[in-house]
Amino acid sequence: MRPIAIVGAGMMGNVHARSYRTIDETSPLSIVDPVGSRAKVISDKYRAIAASFDEILADDEIEIVDICTPTFTHRDLVVRALEAGKHVFCEKPVALKIEDAVAMDKAAKKSGRVFMVGHVVRFFPQYIKVRELASSGDVGEIVMARLYRGGSFPSHGIDNWFADITKSGGVFIDLSIHDFDFLRKLLGPVRTVEARSVELSSTVKKPSFDHGMAILRFESGALAHIEGSWAEPADMPVGFGTSYEFIGTKGMITNSYERETTLRLQTSIDGKPLYSQENPILNDPYTEELKSFILSIEEGKEVPVSCEEATESLRVALAANLSARLLRPVELSEVS
Ligand SMILES: NC(=O)c1ccc[n+]([C@@H]2O[C@H](COP(=O)([O-])OP(=O)(O)OC[C@H]3O[C@@H](n4cnc5c(N)ncnc54)[C@H](O)[C@@H]3O)[C@@H](O)[C@H]2O)c1
Repeated sequence: MRPIAIVGAGMMGNVHARSYRTIDETSPLSIVDPVGSRAKVISDKYRAIAASFDEILADDEIEIVDICTPTFTHRDLVVRALEAGKHVFCEKPVALKIEDAVAMDKAAKKSGRVFMVGHVVRFFPQYIKVRELASSGDVGEIVMARLYRGGSFPSHGIDNWFADITKSGGVFIDLSIHDFDFLRKLLGPVRTVEARSVELSSTVKKPSFDHGMAILRFESGALAHIEGSWAEPADMPVGFGTSYEFIGTKGMITNSYERETTLRLQTSIDGKPLYSQENPILNDPYTEELKSFILSIEEGKEVPVSCEEATESLRVALAANLSARLLRPVELSEVS
């Protein structure tokens, strides 16, 4: 593996460092974080060298930069890394505004380097299965979907940045964007979004959208109901969960996943039940995602999640925020 620098030694920086070490135990890894104690955890655990952002940009040996910093910092760091000639991976959401995402895409195209955004849900086994079943035609055309993703408030964020809607974008942009992105990939472009959100948490410093519900109408005519939550109680035995139902013209696919449990996928095709179990630990989606990014660099392949696609997923999340604010349906064309 080529030398890599991870920028941001928080929750995702740790996840990515673990994945890179799974892919390759020995290749050089650098870590950048202004908080020295955070960088040290990754240096010690994953044999990484602590460095500054300017140092890694100036180091010609480092070809790949992986941005795992709070969302409001993405544009500046991604553009600078691309301009320095690095291949760049950036955690989702790509940015908080369309204009920022467009600037990042422009910088990537100008640099000729590989740029991928971390919409990792596409690499989770239970979501891969949905795309396989949908494209095989077994469940017919998917016309309805219901997805949930939620847990307690992400209080691990440095300086409580998730609680500041100007830094995280709130629950639609930070969390439900996973489902918006997956649904766009599965069902095509979204036409309108109608959403509501409530601020439930009293433990955060600043107001934040804590629980949101959005109804997406797709160009295809399909309808999806997405709920995202940061409003569940903290310190519960199960910290985070997702579930879905996809209803096709010939069958349905359902799944409910709670951390540390086996995935159970139940499908009914033409009235015949189908049941499968998978162990997500055997197939870590973050490692698969980063492997696919490295493969795109090695083999000159298209990245599985481009900046344009991430920008369209952001547009859906922004439409949800706008709809929740205006209390009316919002056309995607209204969000620029
Ligand atoms: N894909 C997923 O499943 C997933 C899950 C959680 C978070 N995320 C995304 O990952 C990103 C990071 O989230 P997190 O939970 O790791 O946040 P975090 O607060 O845990 O960590 C962010 C780290 O970045 C560091 N940092 C801030 N500014 C920096 C800069 N200019 N240069 C270098 N380091 C800097 C902070 O000191 C902190 O250590 C966010 O965009 C978030 O939305 C993705």
